[in-house]
Amino acid sequence: MLITLEGIEGSGKTTQIDYIATYLQKSGLDYIITKEPGGTVLGAKIRSILLDPGNMNIHPMTELLLYAADRVQHIKELITPMIESGKIVICDRFHDSTTVYQGFTRGIDISLIQRLNSLVLEGLAPDITFILDLDPEIGLKRAWRQILDGSRSEAETRFENEKLQFHESVRNGYLELARQEPGRFVVVDASEDAAKVKEKIIEKLKKSLKNR
Ligand code: TMP
Repeated sequence: MLITLEGIEGSGKTTQIDYIATYLQKSGLDYIITKEPGGTVLGAKIRSILLDPGNMNIHPMTELLLYAADRVQHIKELITPMIESGKIVICDRFHDSTTVYQGFTRGIDISLIQRLNSLVLEGLAPDITFILDLDPEIGLKRAWRQILDGSRSEAETRFENEKLQFHESVRNGYLELARQEPGRFVVVDASEDAAKVKEKIIEKLKKSLKNR
């Protein structure tokens, strides 16, 4: 089973992933937590290029292909073997980030992104995807607070340096995806307090685990 979490910067994915992990552990289910970009050793090197604020001039196509390269390595080396061994994989961002950031927001042709995604995924698809929906003004403030207090790395702020309009487009992109595929996406209001967000996520997750 593959569970993915998506959302703008500062939407609280890390906190919710911890809650999901605690729930799975208490339920006696075997899981791993991973992320994109950077879920493998090779991917961590790609991540440092992608998130380096010194690389603001990266071409959108270079950016797209680096995310795709990270994902191929991640799927082949980690995700598929883990799923095949019966583990639940919780992934912080996956191919929907590419559709929303490189497609809807950077403006790369969506049909090209969809073709690339299907080439990379080879039939793999998340069973459930949580979108933590939040006003980007709030998300960015949270993200910058974490950068300033050291809990988020300053070396990984290329996207936090993008304008508010960029993040608004990302938010709208996610909501558009959720409208297109309501069976997979669960949109959660991430402006509520973390415990309330968790309740909603766990409730949906329980149903999804039952239908596995
Ligand atoms: P994060 O690990 O702090 O969420 O940062 C990852 C950043 O990379 C985030 O700003 C979203 C961006 N991203 C893309 O633009 N495309 C992708 O395919 C993925 C996985 C992430």
